Amino acid sequence: MKDKFYLTTSIAYTNAAPHIGHAMELIQADFLARMKRNGGDNVLFLTGTDEHGLKIARSAEAQGKTPQAFVNDVSKKFKGLKKALNISFDDFIRTSDKKRHIPGAIALWKKLEAKGDLYPHNYRGLYCAGCEAFVKEKDLVGGLCPIHKKAPEEVEERNWFFRLSRYSTELQALIKSGELQIYPENRRNEMLSLIKSGLEDVSFSRPKGKVGWGIPVPGDSTQTMYVWCDALANYISAIGYGQDEINFRKWWPADVHLVGKDIVRFHALIWPAMLLSAGLRLPKKILVHGFINVEGEKMSKSLGNVIDPYQLVEKYGSDAARYYFLREIPSDEDGDFGYQKLEDRYNGDLANGFGNFASRVTTLASRFDKISAKGFEPDQAITQKIVETEKNVLYYADQFKLHEAVRCIWELVREGDVYLNAHRPWELKEDDPRFLKIILNLLALLDKSAELAAFVIPEAASKTKEAVKHGPGHTLKVKKLSPLFPKINE
Ligand code: MSP
Repeated sequence: MKDKFYLTTSIAYTNAAPHIGHAMELIQADFLARMKRNGGDNVLFLTGTDEHGLKIARSAEAQGKTPQAFVNDVSKKFKGLKKALNISFDDFIRTSDKKRHIPGAIALWKKLEAKGDLYPHNYRGLYCAGCEAFVKEKDLVGGLCPIHKKAPEEVEERNWFFRLSRYSTELQALIKSGELQIYPENRRNEMLSLIKSGLEDVSFSRPKGKVGWGIPVPGDSTQTMYVWCDALANYISAIGYGQDEINFRKWWPADVHLVGKDIVRFHALIWPAMLLSAGLRLPKKILVHGFINVEGEKMSKSLGNVIDPYQLVEKYGSDAARYYFLREIPSDEDGDFGYQKLEDRYNGDLANGFGNFASRVTTLASRFDKISAKGFEPDQAITQKIVETEKNVLYYADQFKLHEAVRCIWELVREGDVYLNAHRPWELKEDDPRFLKIILNLLALLDKSAELAAFVIPEAASKTKEAVKHGPGHTLKVKKLSPLFPKINE
């Protein structure tokens, strides 16, 4: 039987259009989804948008729109990344969806309440709308939120609180035992030290008068559910929690939650505690990516350096954008975006690398009308290299070192080039038996390179696959490929 693989990204706030940080997260998840499908798994890849809360209500107001009309527009731009970036997500959930999401979020709230893990509490604190979270005085820098560079708002109100503290010991044990895996290691350690320093209960609602755009707390219409409590529930509402038990059981627990480094705490502590409280299983693995800076600076509206993924794709194509984010940015660390670096990668690894190899091989192979591969086995060294590459790709992907996985795939391409240059088939006649053998070895290398490169550059990989037609009786017919990645001139 096929294994199931349920993979999610975070769901982005719909207060502004997507930027390349969102694009990168989708691209990383897409690599994993395509790899798992290729390995035969039954994959469910979920993404979506986080549409409630103060930050969004304020952005809508600033544009003179109702929150719902505003999020409808922004959410479309996120959904559109599927086509623009060739992302193979299977489902897209929106937290303002009254049919699919809200009933699940409410069902979860009721479970926590029934467990005795929600209690009313008068609270005084500092709220950062950018983070959509209460922040501590000690974490501010010069009175400002270190991420959003804004002074948080002082709040004194009655909220519902969630007993996060009750789950400290259990969470610690689950993370330590590896039952709940967090990659990379430094993020795992960060969570363990947060637990060690003591987890406090968290505010799980805000007064409706202050935050009206959200899900009303069940049984207390004076309060709105805290946006994170609402948003985290997407991972279960989308698969039918509280509504479609059979589908829910088919997919839960998630195999991977992929998130950025700023929201690990929510996914590795608060979310698992909510699940424990509700008596549900925990996700198996949390993968944490870093942040993209732009030419060495933090990407921000105020600096005016926010990069629009749609523009990037228009200029370079989706494969090139995908390749850059997967190869140049270390998946588990911060990385930098720069146009020159993108063009260097494009020319070096795509035009001269994969593209050139694919054209050379298909050009040579197209000299035959039909190729017979009957009884052919690739050279031992080639088979070995292929097996080793496949193994390394899986290994690195498992460690969430996608850049290393991609490096291995491109090494296979280079191996193909080396073989080609060493054997110089262009000097041989078609009826020379050595010619056929070399071509078949090259086609084996190209085929596997395209299969693995499809996780990264699906468009070029599928064109490559289409150029090689398999006929009856182990015959092949190869069409010459036109350049997949025309060189960009400096
Ligand atoms: N809505 C919450 C997530 C809720 S999940 C139940 C949220 N949204 S966000 O739009 O602020 O961020 C969405 C994702 O984009 C997060 O994983 C975040 O880390 C990521 N990124 C935001 N800026 C980024 C960069 N500059 N670089 C890379 N990823 C970044 O948080």
